[in-house]
Amino acid sequence: MEKRSGRFIVLEGIDGAGTTTQSALLVERLRRETPKTPVKITREPSDGPIGSLVRQVLTGRIIVPGGRAPGWATMALLFAADRMDHVESDIEPFLAQGGVIVSDRYDASSLAYQSVSSGRGGEKAVEWIRELNKHALRPDLTIVLDLPSEIAAVRREVRGEAAQLYEQNEVQRALAEFYRDLARHMPDDRVVIIDGKGSIDEVHQRVYEAVAARFS
Ligand SMILES: Nc1ncnc2c1ncn2[C@@H]1O[C@H](COP(=O)(O)OP(=O)(O)OP(=O)(O)O)[C@@H](O)[C@H]1O
Ligand SMILES: [Mg+2]
Repeated sequence: MEKRSGRFIVLEGIDGAGTTTQSALLVERLRRETPKTPVKITREPSDGPIGSLVRQVLTGRIIVPGGRAPGWATMALLFAADRMDHVESDIEPFLAQGGVIVSDRYDASSLAYQSVSSGRGGEKAVEWIRELNKHALRPDLTIVLDLPSEIAAVRREVRGEAAQLYEQNEVQRALAEFYRDLARHMPDDRVVIIDGKGSIDEVHQRVYEAVAARFS
């Protein structure tokens, strides 16, 4: 049962597509334009206890014997557990107050990353990951920043952070393809694919227009 009066917006895309940059800009814009409405930014993995654990896996600080990261199914369960905690402790209470919450990634990331890294014919994995996330609150709008993986790789290089799990080029290419097709995987959700190329301001304008169109 959903009790909420606010709005829940999600930004998605491959690594370096600009979800963190664009979530922050969107939140700034919404605060400027609707100063009376509480607006909040959040992210997944979340800043809660399970999200912190997941971040330690992504940065290579948690490994299983053999020196590799936990497998895709373990990751799918960890992400799903973090999501439920995030919804319960952060997202739902804020929406109940009538706020607008913008999340840098949500369950589409689980569908994309864990199915692509499962290496076993995506559809079966997608089905199971969807089942795991069955109780995750649905966003009012999911915006995908569509960017060729080669351009995203250059942006990540310029950013200059150490590479995380999933950042190999073949994985990123498969993820970009998955995201382009996201509406098919989330048929009951409102999904908008936006061109992530061009300047930060140009992309921001597209993101803002998608939000304005959804809530006008
Ligand atoms: N439109 C753009 N043009 C050029 N550079 C950009 C653009 N958008 C973001 N960047 C830069 O590219 C880098 C990656 O952007 P950002 O960190 O927002 O991506 P992300 O999708 O959050 O990546 P990750 O999934 O790895 O967290 C940053 O250094 C950012 O400043
Ligand atoms: Mg980011």
